[in-house]
Order: sequence, then C-alpha cells, then structure tokens
Amino acid sequence: MNYNKKSVLDADLKGKKVLLRCDFNVPQDKETGAITSDKRIVAALPTIQYLLEQGAAVIACSHLGKPKGTWKESLTLAPVAVRLSELLGQDVIFAKDIIGDDAKAKAAALQPGQIMLLENLRFDPREEKNDPEFAKALADMAELFVSDAFGTVHRAHASTAGVAAYLPAYAGMLIEKELSIMGKALDDPKRPFVAILGGAKVSSKIGVINNLLEKADTIIIGGGMSYTFQKALGYEVGNSLLEADWLQYSLDMIQKAKDKGVQLLLPVDTVVGKEFAADTEKQTVASDAMPADWEGMDIGPKTIELFSEAVKNAGTVVWNGPMGVFEFPAFAVGTEAMAKALAESGAVTIVGGGDSAAAVEKLGYADKMTHISTGGGASLEFLEGKELPGVACLQDK
Ligand code: 3PG
Repeated sequence: MNYNKKSVLDADLKGKKVLLRCDFNVPQDKETGAITSDKRIVAALPTIQYLLEQGAAVIACSHLGKPKGTWKESLTLAPVAVRLSELLGQDVIFAKDIIGDDAKAKAAALQPGQIMLLENLRFDPREEKNDPEFAKALADMAELFVSDAFGTVHRAHASTAGVAAYLPAYAGMLIEKELSIMGKALDDPKRPFVAILGGAKVSSKIGVINNLLEKADTIIIGGGMSYTFQKALGYEVGNSLLEADWLQYSLDMIQKAKDKGVQLLLPVDTVVGKEFAADTEKQTVASDAMPADWEGMDIGPKTIELFSEAVKNAGTVVWNGPMGVFEFPAFAVGTEAMAKALAESGAVTIVGGGDSAAAVEKLGYADKMTHISTGGGASLEFLEGKELPGVACLQDK
C-alpha cells in the first residue's frame, strides 16, 4: 500500500477548524478509573501542539475501550481531557456528547489556538459501523481532518476512515513517524533483519509470518505459539498451548523458510511448569523432551543464548509478542532477556505494541529502543503488509 500521504505539515491550518482523530484508548485502573499509562496521550502532543501553534482550532476525538455503542459512564473520556490539559498546560474543553447539541455548540464557538475533546466515539453504535451520516456529522464541525490515531488505523470506522469522504484528510506526525520507521524496516531494512515473534497463538500471527518470510533473514519463534511448531516437528509438548489446526501450516512455514533461505529459529530448551500458576513447580528441559503432564511456560537458558546471539548480530530487529507467560515473574525470564538483548544491540530495534512493549517499558528499556509502536493490532496488521483503512483514506502526496 502507499504510505506517501499528505502530512499535517503540508496543510494550511491558520484559522481552520480541524477534526483530529487520536488514539486516547489508554489503560485505566479498574477500581478508580485513573489512567495508568498516559503514553498514548503524550504521543499525540507533537501534532496537537503544532496544530495549535499554527492557529488551528482543534476538535479532538477518540474511542476508549469497547462500550459497544452504549453510554457507559466508566468509559467517559473526561479523565483524558483532564490529563491532556495538564500535559498541554492549557484548558481542554470537554463536550458532553459526540455529535449532539453540546459538541456542535462548543465546536462552533471554538477559537484558533483552543482545543476541545468530544465524548467517547464508541458510545454511538454508528462509529464502528462506519455510518456515513455519523461520519458527515463529525466532519460538519470542521474544515480539515487530521488522523494521528496510529493504534486505530486498522479499523474502518466513521472517525478513522469515513470522515475522509467529507474533508481533506492529512496524516498527523505520530502516524508519519510510525509509518516511516516501520515502513523502512520492511522495505529497506539494515541487514541482517531479524524478526522475533511470540505470544500465544500461531493463528493470530499467520499473516505476519507469511509476510516476514519474504523480507527477513532470520525469524525467531518463541512463546506459546512455538509449541505448535514443535508438535508439528513430532515433539511431545505436554499440556502446552497447542493449536492442532495449525500443525500443517507450521510445517509449511518451516519448509517455506528453508526454500527461501530464511533462518527459522525455534526454542531448543523450555521452562515447563507443573500447572498454569505463578508459583508452580518448574524445571528446564530440552524442547524435544518435554514431560507429558507439564506445560511449557518460558524459553530456557540455551534458547535465550541462541536468540540473543541472533539479535546481537542483527542490523534490524522487529519484536512482537512475549517469549513466555511473562505476567508470572518466574516465567518472565525469557521475555526480559530478549528485551535486554534488544536494548544492548546496535541494531535498529522496533517493538510492536501490546505485551512486548509493556515488557520493555516495565523493565526500563524503553528509551534504548529505536521505536516502540503505539499500535498493538495496528502494528501487527502493518507487519502483515495489509492495507490499513485509516491510512488508505488519507490524501496521497
Ligand atoms: C488498541 O488499543 O489497540 C487500539 O486503540 C484499537 O482498539 P480496538 O482493538 O478496541 O479497536
């Protein structure tokens, strides 16, 4: 797909009302509703500040969580407005609705240099249905559309794609940064290009494996999905995660890697637990000798060495998905070791959003990475080489 999109830097913004789609889908404390990480709000600041400095009036909008088209007070964007206002050092006017009287009146009165935030877009069922009337009502409040919601570009919703039918649509700086860093890694990587894939399911990474087999020099497979590959090779995997429907696919991928001359690395040893619990009994075994009634929960020390060596010699590393059950400290060793290996390598290091990004941040390695994507599902679909509706809808350069 074409990533060469018109940037907000190309737009004439002075005195214009701009509808700005952000991804303010931030994690919140279940009890108190407090925002537990403001990273996505911080990531949107460069574009917001630029728009305000250029004399635009900014009508920001986002979804939060999955309210499924109903008003859920626990998912109001009000706390985001407060945090955004603290970060910007200026008032953020909060609308009580999305395209209702309050939003319309506040948008009409908004002055250059001012910013307002609409209520959670997904309180209205028409947002996720990409309803044209809803999209038009959003667009009618503004004169330009800027999308900076990289985390949501894989969704074809009214605010991420639909509005572009009614307004000139530009890419914000966060989207530009994500596309240029990850796009370069895929199209013109510094080699060797090593991809590390983990997480529970082969089935959720099929597209990525397929696409990266065309581009990478080495593919490392760890985490829960590696057991399906090991089973396909005829190994005992005990009670480990297994997707029996994907055994043939795994074999096909192993063959495809051979045919293409791509090195495919699988764990050589595994930390197995007696049961799926944080404090369960554990032992390290060779990956082809897992006891039948134990469960694979992390990569072992020899695997850490093998995978780290590949990372050490890499020119580019893309990492998506943990190496084990990293939410249990006893089984987080492999994931932590990979985070450290990336932090210490001289390679261009790109961490896909979600669990691997969380692990890198928790361990304090975030500033040692070239790029941590703000998108979970979006970065995965990008790595799959899929067309992203929230990017495709923007004006070409
Ligand atoms: C995310 O958190 O990955 C994005 O905000 C998209 O959210 P969604 O999966 O609910 O569409």
